[in-house]
Amino acid sequence: MADLLQEIKKRKTFGIISHPDAGKTTLTEKLLLFGGAIQEAGAVKSNKIKKGATSDFMEIERQRGISVATSVLAFNYKGHKINILDTPGHKDFAEDTYRTLTAVDSVIVVIDVAKGVEEQTEKLVKVCRMRNIPMLVFINKLDREGKDAFDLLDEVEQKLGLTVVPLSIPIGMGSDFQGIYNIWENNIQLFLEDKKQKVGETVKFDDISDASIDEAIGETAAQTLRDELELVQSVYPAFCRDEYMKGNLQPVFFGSALNNFGVRELLDAFVDIAPMPQPKQADTRMVKPEEKNFTGFVFKIHANMDPKHRDRLAFVKIVSGVFRRNENYLLVREGKKLKFSSPNAFFADKKEVVDESFPGDIVGLHDTGNFRIGDTLTEGEKLNFKGIPSFSPEHFRYINNADPMKAKQLAKGIDQLMDEGVAQLFTLEMNGRKIIGTVGALQYEVIQYRLEHEYGAKCTYESISIHKACWVEADEKSSEFLEFARLKHRFLARDKYHQLVFLADSSFTIQMTQEKFPNIRLHFISEYAES
Ligand code: G4P
Repeated sequence: MADLLQEIKKRKTFGIISHPDAGKTTLTEKLLLFGGAIQEAGAVKSNKIKKGATSDFMEIERQRGISVATSVLAFNYKGHKINILDTPGHKDFAEDTYRTLTAVDSVIVVIDVAKGVEEQTEKLVKVCRMRNIPMLVFINKLDREGKDAFDLLDEVEQKLGLTVVPLSIPIGMGSDFQGIYNIWENNIQLFLEDKKQKVGETVKFDDISDASIDEAIGETAAQTLRDELELVQSVYPAFCRDEYMKGNLQPVFFGSALNNFGVRELLDAFVDIAPMPQPKQADTRMVKPEEKNFTGFVFKIHANMDPKHRDRLAFVKIVSGVFRRNENYLLVREGKKLKFSSPNAFFADKKEVVDESFPGDIVGLHDTGNFRIGDTLTEGEKLNFKGIPSFSPEHFRYINNADPMKAKQLAKGIDQLMDEGVAQLFTLEMNGRKIIGTVGALQYEVIQYRLEHEYGAKCTYESISIHKACWVEADEKSSEFLEFARLKHRFLARDKYHQLVFLADSSFTIQMTQEKFPNIRLHFISEYAES
């Protein structure tokens, strides 16, 4: 028991979220440098990670340069085991990111100093706020000209609805960038412009009036710094860990991921304050990590990771107890016992078979088609973890078979891609035609590409005018429902789990339908976990 507690306390599982190009990948790589073998070899080797198979399981991801897959990167730092769950920043893969956010205990939000708060950051932070996930903010690219630090802090507060506490402030910016005053550690890190990737000397002092500051950065910059610090103290609240943990207050750090500047400070503060694995709500009760019995849930399914083997990998976040290799676990939805002989654990540059995993960890389980996203595994207790929703897609198209000889392959491919959560499938009640719903148009290309390359099947799409998918909650025996079904039969479909869905062609239709059929409830969100 003591061991389990110790293991739990060691772990920090988090995600990095940002708008594409803000520097998420670069920051991830730099964080890995602090934890891995690269530390000894020197920070400049970062490209090796980038070009390796670390964060891109799929060929398509390499081709497009977008992080399509959500992968797991683990490393050790200062006695902690840190699990980074990689999240695609591209908006077309937002749903993948939302699901991953159900498996993190905290997040780091990366913002580009020049671009400020961008659209995708807003959306993702909103989801984190809804879930009260503790957040740290990293303002990146200080080596470039950008917005004034305080204007940017205002923007973060206003657009993201956060209550910020700067724990570092930049000294200058772009060509005048001199370094960072670290309020958390009370020192100044000097930036060596001519020696990229290298951090300059650390200026330590007891008091902000210390003359060593003037010597290090010049009198004018030192005076500005003192004024700004006064401003920070008078305008922003003091840091309070409890408030951070509740999601009420968000510490902010400045730096340059590319130059590995301000990253160690961020990481050090992160290991000091970020939460260890947290309890998670299930339908019947709250499950605590330190409970003896294993529980976990599937937040991601990835098919055909290795093109040579037709297998799927289900990513399971461990919520409580110890997950053990070759032990029988209950897949609650199916009431089925399953045993896993080669569960994978993830590291920065490899995955490995492990005998034991602990709360906060992610294990990859080879799957032959048993799992769905949102599934719960336990040692026997019948409970289901909540909160893996499926949102109404934004785009809809009919999918047609373009090669009659490959109908089986197509059906299998569609089935597996939907299990992974790449898109949603709706089958029209009326005629059995299949409609694919996605968050972004790009997924249609991904699906087409993967069907062809992984399943040898070809498809074409056909446009259809649908505004939203509404999950229908109704007493299917009531006369009101029968009338609704009669009137709307052309727009009724079943999702992959046979839930009834009304495919509405406009918001006006939705409004009229709700007025006419008050006892039929239309939802824009479904919970995969619900059986
Ligand atoms: P993302 O994962 O959030 O999409 O962003 P990524 O890390 O790929 O960074 C996007 C671009 O911003 C990259 O340049 C990267 O080198 C650059 N970048 C990241 N951090 C900093 C920083 O602190 N300062 C500056 N000046 N640039 C930074 P790229 O030209 O698009 O790619 P690459 O050819 O450098 O890989």
